[in-house]
Amino acid sequence: MSLSVVILAAGQGKRMKSDLPKVLQPLAGKPLLGHVLDTARGLQAATTYVVYGHGGEQVLDAFPGTELGWVLQAEQHGTGHAVAQAMPHIPDDHLVLVLYGDVPLVQLETLARLVAEAGEKSIAILSVMLPDPTGYGRIVRDGAGNVVRIVEHKDANTKERAIHECNTGLMCLPAGRLRKWLSELKNDNAQGEYYLTDVIVAAVRSGLKVNAVIAPTATEVMGVNDKLQLAELDAAYRRQRAAELMLAGATIVDPARFDARGPVSIGRDVFIDVNVVLEGTVKLGNRVRIGPNVLIRDAEIGDDTVIHPNCVIERAVVGPRCLVGPFARLRPEARLHEDVHVGNFVEVKKSELRRGAKANHLTYLGDTTVGEKVNVGAGTITCNYDGVNKWRTEIGDGAFIGSGTMLVAPVKVGAGATIGAGSTITKDAPEGKLTLERSKQVTIESWKRPAKK
Ligand code: UD1
Ligand code: CA
Repeated sequence: MSLSVVILAAGQGKRMKSDLPKVLQPLAGKPLLGHVLDTARGLQAATTYVVYGHGGEQVLDAFPGTELGWVLQAEQHGTGHAVAQAMPHIPDDHLVLVLYGDVPLVQLETLARLVAEAGEKSIAILSVMLPDPTGYGRIVRDGAGNVVRIVEHKDANTKERAIHECNTGLMCLPAGRLRKWLSELKNDNAQGEYYLTDVIVAAVRSGLKVNAVIAPTATEVMGVNDKLQLAELDAAYRRQRAAELMLAGATIVDPARFDARGPVSIGRDVFIDVNVVLEGTVKLGNRVRIGPNVLIRDAEIGDDTVIHPNCVIERAVVGPRCLVGPFARLRPEARLHEDVHVGNFVEVKKSELRRGAKANHLTYLGDTTVGEKVNVGAGTITCNYDGVNKWRTEIGDGAFIGSGTMLVAPVKVGAGATIGAGSTITKDAPEGKLTLERSKQVTIESWKRPAKK
């Protein structure tokens, strides 16, 4: 059967005490709803609908593109009412998978199991065993262990409240049947809401089997209601990501002080010191070593390269056997080929450093091509911006740039050229020659240091 996914995301999230709608609160740098959408994408559903309400425009704007079906639930009358808003769009012969926008860590395998357990003659619900089930809907089973209904905490009697198997809210059902059951829901309960959970009784009455899939861990199905739970889930996510990488062979000095916020691929024997944050898509080659306090975002680091402490690397590609930092900043479109050294307080933007090039101290390279084995002296600055336009600097292979040089772009330094320290280079420097721009040094013989009166 084809699949339609319905993500409930209309709740306000008052307890967040935030102007940002709950489903937009970031977990590991990505909105809660984004986590759910990314996981659900793996199911390759015909359509994914998001039932939104609070913070409407903001939520829509956060997920541009056309592949999602947006369904407005202007007033929130309960989970059953929420799902009903999406039903007009869904054909009878589909399965409907209901997800929550504020349950971000649910795994694709779990969802796939839920879908596999549902069909024309069965529905599947995701339950979880909780030591403290207070507040949750309870899964009520008969003597034979069959699920017969779900009772909300507020509507449950003492005996039912003693049940530890809880409803996560995630379930999968045949659309045609669901449509009918939803149309028959009543709100004569403690909260005056249309409960999605009431469809269980209807399913049982219609002779369908109710399959309960028990969630592998409570964390996976934990919802987020306040900033405290958000931080708890963030920590769980962090642990999970660190564990994945360690099991893939990375040495992570302290998993609690490591953050992988996007997809990371690693080679063998990668070493990661404390307070390393990886964001976006990051690729680390074999034997890459990353020192403490490093941020790497959307970048690729080649085999045997060492990133020394306190570096910020963003949208850069670093080749093999490079040394970067400490305190280096590689900005977007920095491209370091093999054996390149970029040292402390060096900033590289939209520049290419070819094999064996070195810029070891206090330097800015912007819109620059640095040839093979070039040595860029301390305090060199490519003056790439004239206040209106950006211009390029080209430094040929084997050139030597003396310390304290200003390269005023557009400018070219020929291969093998030497630039004398302290020069401001405004015209192209020919290859193989010494070029310098300096006023003559003078010593004033008659000068005397003033004496105190
Ligand atoms: C619901 C379940 C309960 C389960 C619990 C798990 C029902 C009746 N109860 O309870 O059995 O143990 O989740 O957390 O289903 N939402 C809407 N529109 C609405 C109401 C809710 O979009 O009108 C969304 C919320 O944004 C949220 C989700 O549905 O993402 C669940 O709503 P919530 O109010 O948290 O459900 P509970 O009452 O806690
Ligand atoms: Ca809830």
